[in-house]
Amino acid sequence: MPVILGIESSCDETSASICVDGAILSNVIANQTIHEAYGGVVPELASRVHQQNIVPAVQQALFKAKINKNDIDAVAFTRGPGLLGSLLVGVSFAKAFALAKNIPLIEINHMQAHVLAHFIDDPKPSFPFLCLTVSGGHTQIVLVKDYFDMEVVGQTTDDAAGEALDKTSKILGLPYPGGPLIDKNARLGNPDAYQFPEPQIPGLDFSFSGLKTAILYFIRDNVAANPNFIDENINDICASVEKRIVTILLNKLKKAALQFNIKDIALAGGVSANTGLREGLKKLGGEMGWNTFIPQFQYCTDNAAMIAIAGYYKYLKGDFIGQDVAPLARMPF
Ligand code: KG4
Ligand code: ZN
Repeated sequence: MPVILGIESSCDETSASICVDGAILSNVIANQTIHEAYGGVVPELASRVHQQNIVPAVQQALFKAKINKNDIDAVAFTRGPGLLGSLLVGVSFAKAFALAKNIPLIEINHMQAHVLAHFIDDPKPSFPFLCLTVSGGHTQIVLVKDYFDMEVVGQTTDDAAGEALDKTSKILGLPYPGGPLIDKNARLGNPDAYQFPEPQIPGLDFSFSGLKTAILYFIRDNVAANPNFIDENINDICASVEKRIVTILLNKLKKAALQFNIKDIALAGGVSANTGLREGLKKLGGEMGWNTFIPQFQYCTDNAAMIAIAGYYKYLKGDFIGQDVAPLARMPF
């Protein structure tokens, strides 16, 4: 019955979670609103807020799970990839806690953890499966052969899908992070109102920078002709942009599924909270005869439950790391 404390601090969410024998008992997420005024995450501010929030987040996770801190068997933490100053807060906390309690430390790759979020609830995908991981910093198609045996078979050559959504919302004058607001507005708009280009990238890789530029020019030209263009058409613009991004993602996922002959298909990362993408995957899955897997909302965006569950599987293997571990801004699988 291992009790694992999971810690996540790779970007702008400070999160702590308790996992007991593979079951998540708490998942506390402290969001940072300070970045809204800047239109994006300011790394220096993010690390300062992590420093403020980390201990209260852990205390709340313990309280909600009704677990005493003396009962924790191991601490799992995000080692990377992420913002170095943000990661340092979580890594330092995890090391100090493990040292004080004389318990093992478990390093977790944040991108692997997004995939392993599928092992929190039932039904769980079977190996091998494909996972489309879409977040603010990454867009990857991952071939998942085992818990920690994953291969990136397709990825973005420039911007991430979340970045394209966030930058579009910035052009539209919406606050950061824009993804959830584009989702909300898109539900009220016509997805076929405007046609944006689909980049022609070979293989399973993605590109979003051309689309971003096309959106920028489209808005600029229309605002020049009608200064109220954005206000009058915000829902249609959001719906059309979302539709194009979802089409790009699902077309490549379909290609990968056919190439690897895999029918268990999963979605992970912050952008998998998007309604259009979730519905699009379910529809495509129905047509293709796939078993589709989409995590609960709280396990899509950055959270420590995915770190704790990944930590649980590493704990079972006895895969621990020494106290000299340091965070990694870039961390391949
Ligand atoms: O995984 P995540 O929480 O953080 C990173 O590791 O990047 O992903 C954050 C991204 C942001 O780009 C945000 O705009 C996007 O996920 N996002 C959404 C939605 N909720 C979050 N994008 C579209 N629709 C949503 N509902
Ligand atoms: Zn993430």
